[in-house]
Amino acid sequence: MDGPLLIDRLAFDPEAERRELMAGLLREPASIPPKYFYDELGCAIYGAICRLPEYYPTRTEVELFQARRLEIAQAIGPGRQFVDLGAGDCCKAKGWLPFLEPTRYVAVDIAMHEIAAALERMAPDFPGLELAGVATDFSRALELDGVLTESPALFFYPGSSIGNFTPVEARSFLARVHRYCVARPGSSLLIGVDGKKDKSLLDAAYDDALGITAAFNRNALRHLNAKFGLGFDVNGFSHVGFYNEAEGRIEMHLESLREQSLLLDGQERRFAAGERIHTENSYKYAPDEFEAVLRDAGFGSIRRWDAAGVAYSVFHAA
Ligand code: AVJ
Repeated sequence: MDGPLLIDRLAFDPEAERRELMAGLLREPASIPPKYFYDELGCAIYGAICRLPEYYPTRTEVELFQARRLEIAQAIGPGRQFVDLGAGDCCKAKGWLPFLEPTRYVAVDIAMHEIAAALERMAPDFPGLELAGVATDFSRALELDGVLTESPALFFYPGSSIGNFTPVEARSFLARVHRYCVARPGSSLLIGVDGKKDKSLLDAAYDDALGITAAFNRNALRHLNAKFGLGFDVNGFSHVGFYNEAEGRIEMHLESLREQSLLLDGQERRFAAGERIHTENSYKYAPDEFEAVLRDAGFGSIRRWDAAGVAYSVFHAA
């Protein structure tokens, strides 16, 4: 039997990618897109974050999925192509496969090494299931033409990764998913969304006692040094992560510990002591707010399941 099909749609324009990164670093305030968290080490650190006592989203969602498996599976229906957006190690999807009996499984992620290894591991356990992987940066554009078949799809977007988009971006991303659904009657979206909650809980989840989230954040600099030949002093920046209540989002930044400078394709970028590089937003939604985003994206039929104890919801939208 053939191994999993792997499609690399990553470096479609490496020069544009480099230009975008440099422009973000030269701007004031500087920023680095969160996609640069996910090199091999970053994916491993993210795995550790998901096991932290402070980081409730993963555990909460897993428990909610387990508690409502049959109901949710019934809402989706069997025999869809299972499209896993941000599949990573594919662990979240695996729990669904026996309940949904998909026709094929398509793992979509920016980390090619993660999905390649995960699909390789899955293959013997799911004989007869067609496995495919697409390495792509869907934060720029969700481009799955030629990857999806004509048959109905389930788009699976767990973990509240939608929070990395601004609400406006989230709406247009979901509108794109909705267009794929419309073109394949019977398709739908299953998405996990973190809720607004007490600032102290959110602050702790993104600034944990062990400093794992700090390592995750600072690893972006190590990754950029390796990938683009930059000269960041990783020890010269410290982690900042907090809930911005007015904006309804977690913000993560890297704060320069001293005055320092860096050459970026011939241009000098000076960082003052205390100056920050913005590395991530993670928006939190009240259930009604997210329902409105789904409706604005075109979804008309929406069901919601709330976790017990902590504000976190799963939506099924068609
Ligand atoms: C993978 C985007 C869902 O926003 O909670 C975890 C990333 N950043 N800790 C999140 C993250 C810091 C995570 N997402």
